[in-house]
Amino acid sequence: MRILVVGSGGREHALARTLVKSPDVSAVLAAPGNGGTAGVGENVPVADSDVPGLVALAKDRGIDLVVAGPEAPLVAGIRDAMETAGIPCFGPDAYAAGLEGSKAFAKDVMAAAGVPTAAYATFTDAASARAYVEKVGAPVVVKADGLAAGKGVTVAATKEEALAAVDESLVAGAFGKAGTKVVVEEALVGEEASFLAFCDGAASVAMTACQDHKAAYDGDTGPNTGGMGAYCPAPVLPPSRYEETKALVIDPILREMAKRGHPFTGILYAGLMMTADGPKVLEYNVRFGDPECQPLLARLESDLPAIFFACRAGTLTPELVRWSAKSALCVVMAAPGYPGSYPKGMEITGIAAAEADPAVTVYQAGTRRDGERILTSGGRVLGVTALCDTLAAAKATAYEACAKIRFDGAFYRRDIGDKGLKREGK
Ligand code: AMP
Ligand code: GLY
Repeated sequence: MRILVVGSGGREHALARTLVKSPDVSAVLAAPGNGGTAGVGENVPVADSDVPGLVALAKDRGIDLVVAGPEAPLVAGIRDAMETAGIPCFGPDAYAAGLEGSKAFAKDVMAAAGVPTAAYATFTDAASARAYVEKVGAPVVVKADGLAAGKGVTVAATKEEALAAVDESLVAGAFGKAGTKVVVEEALVGEEASFLAFCDGAASVAMTACQDHKAAYDGDTGPNTGGMGAYCPAPVLPPSRYEETKALVIDPILREMAKRGHPFTGILYAGLMMTADGPKVLEYNVRFGDPECQPLLARLESDLPAIFFACRAGTLTPELVRWSAKSALCVVMAAPGYPGSYPKGMEITGIAAAEADPAVTVYQAGTRRDGERILTSGGRVLGVTALCDTLAAAKATAYEACAKIRFDGAFYRRDIGDKGLKREGK
């Protein structure tokens, strides 16, 4: 079987490395890929949002399964276009991908499905949005409706901040088309958890709960990023609660999407706030998280293509999804300046030394190959991941591995996993 992985981040390197381990897989291509996927198979320079280009590539290269890593191709309809061309594609159709593509749509689906989430209202004109902010007061959250590369959400501590966010989106047009509509919602308080499930349109199988670290610096300070590290299992949402959580935030969505004639197949990712009143959904994503994918796949013991095909065929069962009993923890090493502007092209050394420890896998994100050398090419550069008997050991091992890796100005958080360790009483 020949698989095409679409995307170029750490998640896609983890997908490629995991898929290629399957006895059924003969080749893994990546479009556009990165320095890591180039070491697994072949990179082809087609952009991840160029759906017609990706269909042509898949046809030309005899691809048997397309796996879309990021949201952009799914929202742009890659599933629909591939299946129309007769090429199996893992992920939801464009309508169902709207759960991530439009926050207003997601809120409406949640309301229809009875999923717990923050109280909200949706606006397209600034005066009404401002009046609503004046009425509800702060703290309050303002979200651009569409895909804004992680930059469209303002958790406003004051009314002034919220009003500024409304104006930024609806008046100044800072997010372009993605910001012509905003969702204004209640600010929730609690610890966050990432709860993902494989879905086959009707049935779902929960993955192990993860915890991401979105702030750039230690202690959850600094600007919001795509994620500076993740680990699983996350004690904030213990396995004893997976079934009830799935029944609360995953299965109602599957029923609602099936009712609408767009059964959800692929990965449904619920970003949860664990509030005093129970879990509430902050957002849905329609794909693996990055970096959550890296520790999740480090723990997966089953055949990943078999899970993907079962999701597509409507034959998913819990027996298909087996996890290691170990803990996995991923530390993101970033370029200096990230998530703002940062230099590129720095040489990375020490990856092989770090991976000499069999517990360590270094997933590459913003990297490219230059002959034998690996150079940085993005903000999040590497996801240094360890799989060990305990969370404490995984943390220690991942950080020992980070210390072996060098590139100019590299920085990483030192406290990945600490919330979990605290809950474990360590
Ligand atoms: P989102 O892209 O919707 O997940 O928002 C990005 C981040 O903003 C989340 O991971 C939370 O940290 C924060 N956030 C979003 N919505 C809320 C909310 N209603 N209350 C508090 N924090 C939120
Ligand atoms: N790590 C958060 C995300 O992938 O959206």
